[in-house]
Amino acid sequence: MQRAYRILIVDDEDFNQELIQALLEPKGYEVVTADNGKQALEILAQKNIDLILLDINMPVMNGFEMCLLVKQDPRTRHIPVIMITSLESRDSRLKGMETGAEEFLHKPVDQAELLLRVGNILRAAEYEDAFNYVIMALARAAEANDLDTGNHILRVGEFSALIAAELGQSDKFVEDIRLQATLHDVGKVHIPSHILKKPGLLSPGEMEEMKKHPGFGAAIIGDHPYLAMGRDIALYHHERYDGGGYPSGRKGTDIPLAARIVTLADCYDALRNSRVYKPCYDHGGAYRILTEGDDRTQPSNFDPAVLGVFKKKAGSFEELYTKMTDQAAARTTGSL
Ligand SMILES: [Fe+2]
Repeated sequence: MQRAYRILIVDDEDFNQELIQALLEPKGYEVVTADNGKQALEILAQKNIDLILLDINMPVMNGFEMCLLVKQDPRTRHIPVIMITSLESRDSRLKGMETGAEEFLHKPVDQAELLLRVGNILRAAEYEDAFNYVIMALARAAEANDLDTGNHILRVGEFSALIAAELGQSDKFVEDIRLQATLHDVGKVHIPSHILKKPGLLSPGEMEEMKKHPGFGAAIIGDHPYLAMGRDIALYHHERYDGGGYPSGRKGTDIPLAARIVTLADCYDALRNSRVYKPCYDHGGAYRILTEGDDRTQPSNFDPAVLGVFKKKAGSFEELYTKMTDQAAARTTGSL
């Protein structure tokens, strides 16, 4: 049986908490309450919450401060927030929007409206969650044949989001690339495993076969507008800024920005991992190759703005790589 949706009510007035609780529980929702933002964050660290109903004026930590922290934390930012504001306060609505709240309800709360909004927002969040899950499942399926990847797709997503944010892209772009960059190698499902797993260099014929994976990836993703970025990434992530890449030899800004970002994220992560055909490098080694070049890679392969972000944020790349490989190792150990 599907579990009940769990809603966190954050309000310092017991009366308000009880009123909303009495409205939601008979409709099958599970309710958890907190008296202020700080207490609510403690609950969020321990329990899965599907929706937050958030008052603004509270002692210890108010609703704006809390909402900002929820939306900054990758573990909680997906949880929708309905902020409860006073009708006359346009300023608090604007401030609420700035902190990332998805919806607003006016005080005194209209009970029918609250139930409708809660139902709608939970359904929308569930669809989005399922959509994201299926994308990740597709990306994982493409890794099945590839010996060496582990957490590679997730790290490429995180590195790409880091670069996009630093380039000043919108929050939507950053979130889209975090997810859709994971699809960059989805076309590898069509590449025979003896090529993917071959130790040593590929023969020219095998290389030609390998070079088909961007086109295969684009064909698998297709032309749905929600995945337009993922399709661009799959198709162009082996293009090079100087025109020396494949499959089309596009150059410079003719390569979509999302793909230019993923090219560097993918290269950095590939250098850090040992693969059947090459040893791995530590952060310093990978940094040197990307910024100074070697026999396979040149700095001119990358968008100078993207490479500039990498140089500036190199420490964050190293930190993220270490954190995510440690997490993956802990998960593997835990599952044995
Ligand atoms: Fe690739």
